[in-house]
Amino acid sequence: MTTEAIHYDPYDFALSADPYATYARLRDEAPLYFSEEHDFYALSRYGDVEAGLRDAVTYSSSRGNIIEFIKAGFEMPSGVVIYEDPPTHTLHRAVLSRVFTPKKMAALEDRIRQYCAACLDPVVGSGGFDLIDEVAAAVPMRTIGMLLGIPEDDQRAIRDRPEADMHTTDGQPLKVSADFASGAAFADYVDWRMEHPSDDLMTLLIAAEIDDGRGGTRRLERSEILTYVNVLAGAGNETTRHLIGWAGKVLADHPEQRRELASDPSLIPNAIEELLRFEPPAPFAARYVTRDVVLHGATVPEGSVMLFVIGAANRDDRRYDDGDDFDIHRAVGAHLTFGFGIHYCLGAALARLQGRIVLEELLERFPDWTVDVRGAQLAPSSTIRGWATLPMVLP
Ligand code: HEM
Repeated sequence: MTTEAIHYDPYDFALSADPYATYARLRDEAPLYFSEEHDFYALSRYGDVEAGLRDAVTYSSSRGNIIEFIKAGFEMPSGVVIYEDPPTHTLHRAVLSRVFTPKKMAALEDRIRQYCAACLDPVVGSGGFDLIDEVAAAVPMRTIGMLLGIPEDDQRAIRDRPEADMHTTDGQPLKVSADFASGAAFADYVDWRMEHPSDDLMTLLIAAEIDDGRGGTRRLERSEILTYVNVLAGAGNETTRHLIGWAGKVLADHPEQRRELASDPSLIPNAIEELLRFEPPAPFAARYVTRDVVLHGATVPEGSVMLFVIGAANRDDRRYDDGDDFDIHRAVGAHLTFGFGIHYCLGAALARLQGRIVLEELLERFPDWTVDVRGAQLAPSSTIRGWATLPMVLP
């Protein structure tokens, strides 16, 4: 374990802009890293991250999955599945899983494509556009809105709230507050939906019968519905936006591979997997350590915070040949971008679907683009990673 040779600070924006050389050093020189400054441990090798995320007993999610939440020690509200351990996690995840069936996802495809076309058609013939404003921020918000059944006018306010909560200042941990999952932004809408059922997710949650833990079933409480909806809106918007943003940036950096995709769209699904591996929008998952554990010859004491560095694991040469190379022909196989084990992302199929549709529609209209790097800006967040603005220049 090295504490001095490598300085790894997840709150340092300059490092976050290009973390991969540091990640390589972490994997090779400090596979178990301890940050004295911020008091957390970090694992960065693929095998260690996968094994840790699989072990939900040693590594608990019940205090949150970002360092700041775990340290704050809030009482987590019931229903925030991402912050629960079994048995409650199993119960609550089962409710949400009903919504994310392949059939329900496939039913959204045409509507997402139409919306995407409506975003892109107006910029055809222009000299360029901001990929984030025009597409990447708009499509995930609209898709979750379709899934939840949120009226269009309300969608932007709902998207902006969880994001504002996650923005940080360079060098500083996130300032967290205990009401993060109250879902207050959705309250009026849930009340209205109770009176006006439809075929959307909100209606499904209102009508859901869940195990009451005493051998019977019960309906979800209003506060639980609000929490579920808030979790979905928070988990699915900015992450998917960053997948789309990274597609724009990475394919600008690899024009030959982009042209190949434009001439053979059947390569797009694998290119999406490679993009997910190469630039994961959620590069970390943190956990509370519930018992002493020995790793790489050192003891991590009970009560510590463990940071699983997904962004480092995904490029580990022990797992992938030339992990730092982007290659749309790579047999990507499993990666850790959607997590691993019991908390594996429930929206993975929906994120992949959106990524594929956006890339298909983009490449059909614009086989060539570059990025104006001076105008591009990374979003100010230490928990997720991607572009806040990405000006695309068209030939
Ligand atoms: C590219 C886009 C996405 C990425 C990179 C991503 C990443 C992740 C990761 C890493 C986890 C596991 C966190 C942990 O173990 O602590 C997770 C869980 C989750 N994600 Fe996603 N996600 C994406 C899109 C979505 C979408 C579109 C939705 C829903 C609309 C969604 C809903 C969820 C939920 C509900 C969980 C919690 C599952 C559980 O705890 O059992 N995600 N996601």
